[in-house]
Amino acid sequence: MADSIYRPDVVIVGGGVAGLTTALNLAPRKVCIITKSTLGVNTSSMWAQGGIAAAVGINDSVKSHIEDTVATAKGLADENVIVKVVNEAKNIINDLESFGVNFDKNDDGSFDLGLEAAHSSNRIVRSKGDSSGIEIMRGLIEKVHDCNNITVLENVSIDSIMSENNTIHGVIGRLAQDNIPDNHVIIECSNVVLATGGLGGIFANTTNPRSSYGEGIALAAQAGAVLTDMEFIQFHPTGLDFGLDPTPLATEAIRGDGAYLVNQNEERFMLGIHPENELAPRDLVAQNLFKQIEQGNSVFLDCRKVSSEFETKYPQVASYCQAAGLNPKIDLLPILPVAHYHIGGVKTDLEGKTSIEGLWCCGEVAATGIHGANRLASNSLLESMVFGRIVAKNINSLPIKKVNKINPDFIRMHKEKTKNRIRAKKYIWQLRSSMMRNIGIVRNHSSIIRGLHDILKIERESKGLSAKLNDMILVSKFIIIGAYLRKESRGCHLRSDYKNTEDNFILHFDLKFSDLDSKITEILNLADNANHKQVVN
Ligand code: SIN
Repeated sequence: MADSIYRPDVVIVGGGVAGLTTALNLAPRKVCIITKSTLGVNTSSMWAQGGIAAAVGINDSVKSHIEDTVATAKGLADENVIVKVVNEAKNIINDLESFGVNFDKNDDGSFDLGLEAAHSSNRIVRSKGDSSGIEIMRGLIEKVHDCNNITVLENVSIDSIMSENNTIHGVIGRLAQDNIPDNHVIIECSNVVLATGGLGGIFANTTNPRSSYGEGIALAAQAGAVLTDMEFIQFHPTGLDFGLDPTPLATEAIRGDGAYLVNQNEERFMLGIHPENELAPRDLVAQNLFKQIEQGNSVFLDCRKVSSEFETKYPQVASYCQAAGLNPKIDLLPILPVAHYHIGGVKTDLEGKTSIEGLWCCGEVAATGIHGANRLASNSLLESMVFGRIVAKNINSLPIKKVNKINPDFIRMHKEKTKNRIRAKKYIWQLRSSMMRNIGIVRNHSSIIRGLHDILKIERESKGLSAKLNDMILVSKFIIIGAYLRKESRGCHLRSDYKNTEDNFILHFDLKFSDLDSKITEILNLADNANHKQVVN
């Protein structure tokens, strides 16, 4: 099969809220959106239950939204980014409404706002209760289909970013049809926007689509981009433990509506831990839930006191419960903490620029600095859309460049690298289990070293046979290095061997692909020396 070649002005990898917003703001530039599936399918955006945090309530203010975001971030956020994003929330809601997105309203026309953890007011603008992602994506997708300047390439996976002398030349991918060997898609282009989402799929328990395994981070890293804050993985306390992979989410808004967290003795274990009890910051709730599980308890979401309109207010959660044979008005819902959101990623500045000329990032793949060490609920769709617009505005301000041709040697190398389509189910599962066990909610020196050895063993044994597994291995290594280096507990990074938050760790660990091997060798040598000392003593 001949290669398919495209030459748009801008290529956007990823078809969630961040990618679509960027595309819609790039007109009249010729844009190509690449998505691994049908547009919108299997994106975290589509699965988002929460909504968009915006200070549109009568007693609320932008100042208060900014303060809550700063407090949640535990000293690591870039306040300039917070101000920039939060200030735009109302405009984003207006834009979406102008695209025909319907938000939940009260009889008087005001927004029916949800309450989520660590927000000092009801502030979550949502749609059909817990179906915000579906409605927002419906509006954006319809608008994208109306735009003549946007081409959507569906079922295409990108495997490489081509860059030379720190400048982007394009991307290379393939049609996701395993049985066709030479189905390469080559896109020559001087501006690449990564909007590939998160990496929950590298953990055994996650709310993310399985296709979210950090491939945007792997692509950017291999092209030479700087990554940062890789250790900060936010775990959501209320994944529904119904034996499904990925784990269905029970939105925090249900707790905002009066649901409790209890153990098998119906004890509310969050009482007395934080003044907001079940609505304490998410890191604290996830960690206490984990503690209950470690003590041998079972944990549940108790929705029995939530309003009688459960099915109308939370149709997604109600349908998961129905499929599992549970009735939230009568039954306790078994839960478990799950990898939900990656705070770190490809480092960007206030303009969405990465360290590579022509490579831009927005959405979960980007580390813009807004979330610090812990993300305030429902700030991420907002961040994605604000940065989608910023990236588009910046690209629009640049002259349209003559496209650099991709070096044929690079294309040959790429084809060689992606020749094997062997599925690596066994190794992928080993990696996901190890990451959850060792680099999950609570980490320490021993678990981090165990995790590193596991990943290196998987790498040795799998011999590079699967592009997906290779990306997962690479991304896991970066997370492990970040987790090793941060010898403190802060926000969602909890180390049982360094329980305090330390002033000298108000810093970010920037990592590059070129440093990876030397960092790993250093960590293993230090760990060996420490073991040796223990044996001698
Ligand atoms: C939720 O609905 O609980 C999740 C919202 C978020 O993660 O921002």
